[in-house]
Amino acid sequence: MKLSEKASGICPSKTMSLAAMTRKMKQDGVPIIDFGAGEPDFDTPQHIKDAAKEALDNNFTKYAPSAGTEELRSAIADKLKNDNGLNYSYNEIVVSNGSKHALFNAFLAILEQGDEVIIPAPYWLSYTEMVSIAGGVPVIAYTNVMTGYKATEEILKKHLSEKTKAIIINSPNNPTGMVYTKEELEKIADFAVRNDIYVISDEVYEKLIYSGKMQHISIASLNNEIKKRTIVVNGLSKSYAMTGWRVGYTASDVTIASAISNIQSHTTSNINSIALKAAYAALKGDQSCVEEMLNEFKHRRDYIYQRVSDIPYLSCLIPKGAFYLFIDISKLCGEKVDGKKIKDGADVARILLDKYNVAVVPGESFGYDDHIRISFAVGMEDIVEGIDRIENFVKDNF
Ligand SMILES: Cc1ncc(COP(=O)(O)O)c(C=O)c1O
Repeated sequence: MKLSEKASGICPSKTMSLAAMTRKMKQDGVPIIDFGAGEPDFDTPQHIKDAAKEALDNNFTKYAPSAGTEELRSAIADKLKNDNGLNYSYNEIVVSNGSKHALFNAFLAILEQGDEVIIPAPYWLSYTEMVSIAGGVPVIAYTNVMTGYKATEEILKKHLSEKTKAIIINSPNNPTGMVYTKEELEKIADFAVRNDIYVISDEVYEKLIYSGKMQHISIASLNNEIKKRTIVVNGLSKSYAMTGWRVGYTASDVTIASAISNIQSHTTSNINSIALKAAYAALKGDQSCVEEMLNEFKHRRDYIYQRVSDIPYLSCLIPKGAFYLFIDISKLCGEKVDGKKIKDGADVARILLDKYNVAVVPGESFGYDDHIRISFAVGMEDIVEGIDRIENFVKDNF
């Protein structure tokens, strides 16, 4: 008996052992400060939960159209028009089980076996595995701190081949918090149109932008040519503290949308019917909850960035969006702690967890061994304590 090549080829998460250790230590009562979180620490707003309760009371508990109700897809189309200047009709929207599922559907819909997808690094760790499962080949395009960890036309060009089918753009970015400007996106859009490739635009952190001067721009909104070849991916997890509800969606040209809808109709079908109603309430209800969460995240971002910047040997760029700080620890590499040489971010993460009870995510998960990621989706008290511990780690050992 043998597993499929597809299944055997999927990388288990390199950071799984560290995450398992963190879990075990927490269970054992060790006072861990966990900077690993990838989700808002706020509760889902009350009016969204109320809509879900109402859906249950009204027995909205049966199968729904597999791409989502017309009501919700129209609400998403309204949102895309009002927030992003994008015109989609409801039948160009497919609602899926989180943007993760939406992304996977998108790759299944466009990739032939062996098609290449350019993934600018640092990247969200699931992209590479999703592309592979869908039969594609992930091609990693490393950026650097000089470009603000953003892809440029020059970087993309180096990775272009006859097999290139798509590029992934993730703005605001996980793990760096970088946000692409309109001018930067225009160059990437030109590149995609000229080379006849798709763009998968992952916009899940769009509501979390901290600089008043910066604005979220969807690459699809730049012109009709780029809109035709872009699959916009978004969801409600990060903007409305709804990670567990599993609501994401794609917006794309009707041909692509139909393909995605067909795939979904034979696999998962509609998302949970209660979540369809809750998502509608989130999009159509009072938006002040989004603003409140944003203000709290901004306060934390300002604090955490300042504190980390003041720690010798560590460096990072100020995140313009999302809720992560991507920290360059390369100056610690080659140094010894307790007689053992530090090789990479995973070694730093291990010491931080073992000796200082702080959990961080090693950068190798995002394609950068000499970085670590910390999340500020954590309460302020824990942020202060956690950063004190990281500062002590550097003071004690270097
Ligand atoms: C960049 C990025 N895209 C997509 C997702 C998936 O989010 P969800 O499936 O909860 O919508 C995440 C989650 O961490 C993410 O960081």
